Amino acid sequence: MSTTTDPEGHRRSELSTAERQTRDWLLRAENVSKAFGQTQVLTEASLDLYPEEAVAIMGPSGSGKSTLLHAVAGIIAADEGKVILRRPDDGGIDDITTLSDAKRSAFRLHRFGFVFQQGMLIPELTAVENVALPLMLLGTGMAAAVLQANAELHRLGLLGLGDRRIGQLSGGQAQRVAIARALVTDPTIIFADEPTGSLDSRTADEVLDELLASNDGADRALVIVTHDERVAARCDRTVRLLDGRIEATR
Ligand SMILES: Nc1ncnc2c1ncn2[C@@H]1O[C@H](COP(=O)(O)OP(=O)(O)OP(=O)(O)O)[C@@H](O)[C@H]1O
Ligand SMILES: [Mg+2]
Repeated sequence: MSTTTDPEGHRRSELSTAERQTRDWLLRAENVSKAFGQTQVLTEASLDLYPEEAVAIMGPSGSGKSTLLHAVAGIIAADEGKVILRRPDDGGIDDITTLSDAKRSAFRLHRFGFVFQQGMLIPELTAVENVALPLMLLGTGMAAAVLQANAELHRLGLLGLGDRRIGQLSGGQAQRVAIARALVTDPTIIFADEPTGSLDSRTADEVLDELLASNDGADRALVIVTHDERVAARCDRTVRLLDGRIEATR
């Protein structure tokens, strides 16, 4: 597999979407539907995610982008349809739609990483504590978790900022902490909902660079909900939603 280096120095795989999709999918969502009360918000949405691909989800406000992400990631339970994942170790399939809420939460912690528009970091904790937290929830001891969290922060260019609380960081720095927290558990899928939405364009580019670099060469897929065509243009393909239906996939 050949790779290129973009102007920021990050390697991006040269594999085409067609080439990537000859590999086994990591996650398959089939005909996922969701209503809130009487309102049908998502209708029979299907989506396969492959290793190393970055998929943008676009569509007008209220078209169901966040709902799709939440349903595919098991944050909310779909009304219909199923979401299945391939296990990295033995290739077996897990169906997250049949799990209880508690089991779905545990599954998310093991297999998914999340980056939201406002980071959703815990303000009372320092940067390194925020990043160490998912590891500790998975049973890693505090000392080892902090060591690993510091290494992840270092990789994201945040060396020396680990002891700051979130309020003492810039928006871009806080978003990098959120990316470090999402990556530290080595997840199969990273779900990002408008991760650059509240950043200026230069910082947004830098944060996007980090996100795109995070699944390069890894058995991992990246899903980014965005309103920004420039963000989508840097992803490998775009899924467009309209009124809760997937309209088109480029
Ligand atoms: N928990 C909820 N309860 C009731 N309605 C909801 C809930 N969450 C979302 N909705 C409704 O579902 C529709 C889709 O919402 P969703 O958040 O998925 O849109 P979106 O495409 O992410 O929009 P935006 O670009 O503004 O973030 C909207 O009409 C919204 O009001
Ligand atoms: Mg949304």
